[in-house]
Amino acid sequence: MQFDTAEEGALAAAAAPYLRMQGIRKAFGSGENETLAIDGVDLDVRQGEFLAVIGPSGCGKSTLLQIAAGLALPTAGRVSFEGNDVSQPPRGIVYLFQQYGKSLFPWRTVVDNVAFAIEHTEGMTRDKAREESRRYLDMVGLADSGGKYPWQLSGGMQQRVTIARALAAQPRVLLMDEPFSSVDALTRLELHALVLDLWQKQRFTAVLVTHDVDEAVFLADRVAVLTRRPSHIAEVVDTELPRPRDNLATRELPRFIELRHHLLEQLLRRPG
Ligand SMILES: Nc1ncnc2c1ncn2[C@@H]1O[C@H](COP(=O)(O)OP(=O)(O)O)[C@@H](O)[C@H]1O
Ligand SMILES: [Mg+2]
Repeated sequence: MQFDTAEEGALAAAAAPYLRMQGIRKAFGSGENETLAIDGVDLDVRQGEFLAVIGPSGCGKSTLLQIAAGLALPTAGRVSFEGNDVSQPPRGIVYLFQQYGKSLFPWRTVVDNVAFAIEHTEGMTRDKAREESRRYLDMVGLADSGGKYPWQLSGGMQQRVTIARALAAQPRVLLMDEPFSSVDALTRLELHALVLDLWQKQRFTAVLVTHDVDEAVFLADRVAVLTRRPSHIAEVVDTELPRPRDNLATRELPRFIELRHHLLEQLLRRPG
């Protein structure tokens, strides 16, 4: 789209939905072997919000997130980001994969794993990339681990490295696919608090895919519920929980308990 003036462009950008999924449908395979994973998802992500997407295993959560990121194409429907069609990964959207162990380079030190996100940007030197990376490692509480290798760190620490690397890329949107599902329960609570803190300080838009209702309610402003496969959006709920959230107090609020009940009931409901 072309605009005559910078103001017109800015106005159009402000009016355009931020990250928009319209009529998303995704089938894998063909003929008798066709699997329809997603059947008509409409979802708008608002700028600056923390949105969680929940749904039963195999309903198409990862597929939908990959489509939103431009990493996979829908069979039908469209995705737009800041008013532009998404057909390949756009600048500004960063994707945090589920398997942190597989997304770090074992032959690179922790600081160089983070530097990977920025070392190819224009005007960047190796020293500058390392210096920046150390700043992000500090933010995730790993200031002292930069010289280690990923395999020398615990699972939770490795996931912190991937978070630091994602943030170093200065995302406007951070898409997270079950990033906390493979760490122990206590580490998970610590990572929740860390991600919320970083989200509040860095002001990016967060989309979290999870099958964990508690996690979704605790972190998000809104929770979108996907049905079983072939999935569509069953409902989108405003959590209306106060911030800052607290791992103990927030989880004891009547509203938290009510939301958890309602959402679990949705996920447990039998099809048909
Ligand atoms: N590359 C693929 N080829 C064939 N089927 C796939 C592929 N990726 C996902 N699927 C199928 O699509 C459905 C949704 O998968 P996925 O998005 O991974 O679900 P979720 O993340 O909600 O567990 C599943 O039935 C899965 O087997
Ligand atoms: Mg998945």
